[in-house]
Amino acid sequence: MAASETPSNSDAPAPLSKLEEWEDFLQLRYPEETAAGAKPKEQFRNYEADARPSVREFYRLNHRHQTYDFVQAKKKEFLSLSRRRMGIWEAMEFLNTLVDDSDPDTDLSQLEHLLQTAEQIRRDGHPRWFILTGLIHDLGKILCLFGEPQWAVVGDTFPVGCAYSDKIVFHQFFADNPDSRELKYQTRTGIYSKGCGLENVHLSWGHDEYLYHVVKDYLPTAALYMIRYHSFYPAHRDGEYQQLMNGRDKEMFEWVRAFNPYDLYTKSHKRPNVEQLRPFYQELISAYFPTELRW
Ligand SMILES: [Fe+2]
Repeated sequence: MAASETPSNSDAPAPLSKLEEWEDFLQLRYPEETAAGAKPKEQFRNYEADARPSVREFYRLNHRHQTYDFVQAKKKEFLSLSRRRMGIWEAMEFLNTLVDDSDPDTDLSQLEHLLQTAEQIRRDGHPRWFILTGLIHDLGKILCLFGEPQWAVVGDTFPVGCAYSDKIVFHQFFADNPDSRELKYQTRTGIYSKGCGLENVHLSWGHDEYLYHVVKDYLPTAALYMIRYHSFYPAHRDGEYQQLMNGRDKEMFEWVRAFNPYDLYTKSHKRPNVEQLRPFYQELISAYFPTELRW
């Protein structure tokens, strides 16, 4: 087995120079003018051919290693939430210590990105819990600081344990996933049953699922859907995996779709004034969360 095939933390290469490369690729695939769902079919482009080699390699690793067993192992490893105890703002500052190849002069920090997202939601007059969700939605990326490889933290998520939708980007890389040779995992519903509900479905492991478990006791259901499924592009943008959803999922995905433009299109080069915004957000955080959460 070559080093690049080894799904352990230390051996995993980090093809992306920064996590935002994945998000830039999402913006390329889902440009803003089509956010309302008016994407004309004739404008189809081959995004895979346009992707940077680093992005391509990132998806190759993600699709190769996100198996059903891998997801179970990561849930066992992380969902006891026994690594740290910290408040939300502290977690934001912790995430901010994530250093990649970004340029500090032009690139915004993780904390600044979170504030940009929240501020746009606030400007649009959405409820307080929605603003708070924008603020915290990417805090699960601290998994990187626990030594997890990029392909197990970010990337479009998809169900494991059933067939891969052919709408998933770089679908061809699933050929190297051992699950693709397990017949029980390769039917339309796989190990699940029709309409079983997403709470019974295991998605590929990453920052969405991890953060959901950290905050699940403190936020309204719609907020929890936004957090848990914001990277589930095959479902919320491409309409796939309806067969696994129940009525509540379908209803709540309206919120996931409402959140998506803020996730994708609020990043600008305009730096938010962290110190000025801090009191508003610390008050908002304390309205919903205890002083310390388990991570
Ligand atoms: Fe995210």
